Amino acid sequence: VIDAESDLPLHGKKVLVTAGGTREMIDPVRYISNRSSGKMGYAIALAARAMGAQVTLISTPTALKRPHGVEYIQVTTAAELLTQVTKAFVTTDILVMAAAVSDYRPVAPVDQKIKKQADDAHLTLQLTETTDILKALAAHKQQQFVIGFAAETQNLLANAEQKLAAKKVDLLVANDVSQPGVGFNGDTNQVTLLSPGATPVTTAVLSKAAIAQKVLETALTRGAAGKK
Ligand code: CTP
Ligand code: CA
Repeated sequence: VIDAESDLPLHGKKVLVTAGGTREMIDPVRYISNRSSGKMGYAIALAARAMGAQVTLISTPTALKRPHGVEYIQVTTAAELLTQVTKAFVTTDILVMAAAVSDYRPVAPVDQKIKKQADDAHLTLQLTETTDILKALAAHKQQQFVIGFAAETQNLLANAEQKLAAKKVDLLVANDVSQPGVGFNGDTNQVTLLSPGATPVTTAVLSKAAIAQKVLETALTRGAAGKK
């Protein structure tokens, strides 16, 4: 045997990955969500498994196949994601927050389908903030190496630097989702990797599998395996 399981770089490590876009119910048949396909998070879960980690994937409903050899937990809303991630975080070595979490949810989801109003051409939805899961968990991290994502459509570096500092993450994976071949839905991505005190590194446009491996390798070189 050439690749003994115990020789793999993430052997003995617990990696927690979140993936997909959360869905915030408006009424029983409608929700607010975003364009996340889950592909980047699933690629990270697979790459972590291939690198020997014990992987938990917390995902919203996606069109993707559940990866083999990975513990899978399905959630729908940002609130459910918060509950599940918080529970699993305690024993995690590396958190990868790839999910696209809704920043706002309807104040009060109604329990019956909202009907069209014949006398009003407008409908106003009242939204309220969700918890910033990444920020909340990173603020209380102990042994955990915390990896966040940043989806931007402009000023990638400035916005990413700002998120890196505000969220106290160890590694931030930033992508410009307005670029073709980058970010949402496709099978390729290009990211800029930022850590406190390190010069940002931008990858080429690569498959999401290759980006996933690069993210985890970068995490390892920046202390993900040895952090106490
Ligand atoms: N995130 C989170 N909980 C939220 C919102 C975001 O955990 N309620 C996480 C995402 O999973 C991602 C990171 O925060 O890892 C950055 O998400 P992003 O949407 O790019 O940034 P925001 O801080 O939400 O700012 P904005 O959407 O205004 O750019
Ligand atoms: Ca957001």
